Amino acid sequence: MFSAETYSRRRALLRERVTKGGLILLPGNGEAPANYPSNTFHFRQDSTFLYFFGLNHPDMVGILDADTGEEALYGDDLSMDDIIWTGPQPSVAELGERVGVKQTFPLSRLGERVTDAIRRGRKIHFLPPYRAENRLLIASLLGLRPETVADYISVELALAVVSLRESKSAEEIEEIERACEIGYQMHTTAMRMCRPGVVEREIAGAIEGIAMQSGAGVSFTSIVSQHGETLHNHCYDGVLESGRLLLVDAGAETTMNYCSDFTRTCPVNGRFTEQQKEIYNIVLSANDRAFELSKPGLRYQEIHLAAARVIVEGLKGLGLMRGDVDEAVAAGAHALFMPHGLGHQMGIDVHDMEDIGEKYVGYDLETERSTQLGLSSLRMGRRLKPGFVMTVEPGIYFIPAYIEKWKHEGLNREFIDFEALRPYYDFGGIRIEDDILITPDGNRMLGKRRVPVTVEQIEEFMRENR
Ligand code: GLY
Ligand code: MN
Ligand code: MN
Repeated sequence: MFSAETYSRRRALLRERVTKGGLILLPGNGEAPANYPSNTFHFRQDSTFLYFFGLNHPDMVGILDADTGEEALYGDDLSMDDIIWTGPQPSVAELGERVGVKQTFPLSRLGERVTDAIRRGRKIHFLPPYRAENRLLIASLLGLRPETVADYISVELALAVVSLRESKSAEEIEEIERACEIGYQMHTTAMRMCRPGVVEREIAGAIEGIAMQSGAGVSFTSIVSQHGETLHNHCYDGVLESGRLLLVDAGAETTMNYCSDFTRTCPVNGRFTEQQKEIYNIVLSANDRAFELSKPGLRYQEIHLAAARVIVEGLKGLGLMRGDVDEAVAAGAHALFMPHGLGHQMGIDVHDMEDIGEKYVGYDLETERSTQLGLSSLRMGRRLKPGFVMTVEPGIYFIPAYIEKWKHEGLNREFIDFEALRPYYDFGGIRIEDDILITPDGNRMLGKRRVPVTVEQIEEFMRENR
């Protein structure tokens, strides 16, 4: 945990930024049952609750009064029955003290606090709940039907929380760097293990074990697949085959839940084929272009499009695309090969604050989300500011069913040579992902050492470490 002052300062800033006043309701998460009530998933606290209260304990609710400055934590002390199962735990009052909150109450008192504020005609601010339990809690506190809760979220609170969480402090960057180091261990372990005959599951298990050994586990379900063209492929049944590529997209959380998120794609047998090398180097150039451009004031949407231009130029060079590069990108023709966005913010969530809504996190009044195929998948389009942590993750994928669909519909046929794509149907996909900090005059890569990334570095690493 950070110091109590850090959390007190963050809460004070939040109260100030909710200028219209009212009661701010910040529920933490509870335990979530996996297949029966007492068999729970690994506990994950809500990230906004963690940001303002730092407490990694289930079933707590924070209240901030934006008019009076009062702060309170609601939660129940454990009974002797609970303690038999969980061991001794600090009281809610002790927990409050650790993060500078003096007032603590049992959860049963929360209803009266909220009802009293409603009676006085005060605004109750809350963020979009993404877990059913918290949606039900808010519905019952506010007398709403659960399915209408999303209609009453506080845009003012959403924007205030985003404005604080999006700028990472030096102590947060240190945590993210720790997560990156765990990510380095995960990805270099995957490269060490990668060889024909190994089952994807063995690598997934090993790298997720590293995330558990060194922190709070993975920051999202790892992707370890020879079918990199399937973007969120969580199947690990494949047996690695010489000549194919293995895509590993994985990251870790520190014990304070700060995240990393890297992707590397390496040849199963340790040597890229010429065809693989050609595609790989285009993705790497797109990655480099994003590093060159990323700095405060530039829209991430522009950087996404600049990376797309590199991809189109490269694919044109191979005879897979044709025509004017700018026109092809403007038409969205590159989205056949890169249907996702260039990246997203990262912090206490791997897709930071995605629960609050990309409308508030990745876009604003100046930068609206595009509706164009491909560009519409960009999670973050607005201008960068110092302190933002971004992922840079271009990719090129050959998705046979998608190519066939575009071909059949004649979509962007002036820019794509569908016949030339035939030899790529069993290629798979390549993505390269790194994490950067936007600095006052540019950006810097996060993590004290970069996971091997060039063709030469990967081949050398695999040659010397397997
Ligand atoms: N693994 C999800 C992502 O990179 O955004
Ligand atoms: Mn990733
Ligand atoms: Mn990512």
